[in-house]
Amino acid sequence: MARKTTISSMDDDRDPAVGQGSWDGGLSRGAGAGSGALADGEQEQLDEELRPSRLQDVVGQRDVVERLMILLEATSKRKEPLGHLLLDGPPGLGKTTLATVIPRELGTDIQITAGPSLNAPKDLLPYLTNAAHGSVLFIDEIHRMPPAVEEFIYPAMEDFRVDITLGEGLNARTINMKLQHFTVIGATTRSGMLTAPLRDRFVNREHLDFYTQQELSTIILRNSGKLRTHMDPAAAEEIAMRSRGTPRKANNWLRWTRDFADARADGRITLDVAQAALRMKGVDAAGLEEQDRRYLETIITVFGGGPAGVQAIGHTMNIPADTLEDEVEPFLLREGFIQRTPRGRTITAKALAHLNAADRSPGRKASQRDRPALF
Ligand SMILES: Nc1ncnc2c1ncn2[C@@H]1O[C@H](COP(=O)(O)OP(=O)(O)OP(=O)(O)O)[C@@H](O)[C@H]1O
Ligand SMILES: [Mg+2]
Repeated sequence: MARKTTISSMDDDRDPAVGQGSWDGGLSRGAGAGSGALADGEQEQLDEELRPSRLQDVVGQRDVVERLMILLEATSKRKEPLGHLLLDGPPGLGKTTLATVIPRELGTDIQITAGPSLNAPKDLLPYLTNAAHGSVLFIDEIHRMPPAVEEFIYPAMEDFRVDITLGEGLNARTINMKLQHFTVIGATTRSGMLTAPLRDRFVNREHLDFYTQQELSTIILRNSGKLRTHMDPAAAEEIAMRSRGTPRKANNWLRWTRDFADARADGRITLDVAQAALRMKGVDAAGLEEQDRRYLETIITVFGGGPAGVQAIGHTMNIPADTLEDEVEPFLLREGFIQRTPRGRTITAKALAHLNAADRSPGRKASQRDRPALF
């Protein structure tokens, strides 16, 4: 695959990802925690527009940000490159944001690539040889790097050298090439899929968790200012409540309510406008969308409430199990709508109560009321 790189000087205030056009294929899973209707490039562009550019603008994740500040301060004082950093967590929580903010804070360059676009060591080599002292190489979806590329990056990360084999058979020669002391920032939604040798090469690891309603509300109010839209604080809270703890979701709902306010109201986002806009999108009070409710309904109606394996649920819903594991389940698990047991996923009483309450709301289809009593 052709190499697409972004090498941006962080000395000025430009956004590192601006100007890269589209990122490498498969970089983001498109729908992610965003709106399911958005294509990869479109979501990426929307993300860029509202992405915080400095660490101080990053809302929430206080513990992670504090530890990063200490790391950045220490490396700046010692004038040493930052140790390799792994960021993991569900989609839309700020991994790319942090990865692009860090080089800006350090005043260094960043190159950006993604695991799925690195098919062979030769795809990675130009990034390694281009990496300046102290610069950052951001590898998104690092768990999707093929094994050959992964083995190639081991000596690069540990000893800052690459071993290149020239020729074949008896004539084969290995050349060691020295590299600059650079920093790999890896992002993954699946840290469990990383091999131990790769994981161990990251001296710093940070896990991003879902945001509180208060934090999302702050992000929404701040971004409505950036978009020059009037937003009532009560409306921001309402959107935050339905954003599944995810800033990308909050930003997408902010844009939708803004469009709705412009088309159906006077352009100001009030509580009524926000509620009407989100109702139209099928987002319920807990932030569950059609796909989440269909997932819960499938476990109930097809698997008798569970336990059911994610592959089987995926087959029934005609959705890849990966998508369910990355985008649907983390929030449902955290909110206690499902349980993950060794035998599979099980519905909880809380989910049943939530769905039954939703059924009683006006306008709900009658067929969805035929749910067996499980508890
Ligand atoms: N801490 C934060 N404060 C303010 N906005 C944030 C924060 N984290 C994320 N966002 C917003 O959410 C959007 C999505 O974040 P980001 O692209 O960094 O997520 P991600 O973890 O890389 O997701 P994916 O796994 O899908 O690549 C960003 O454009 C940014 O506007
Ligand atoms: Mg990302």
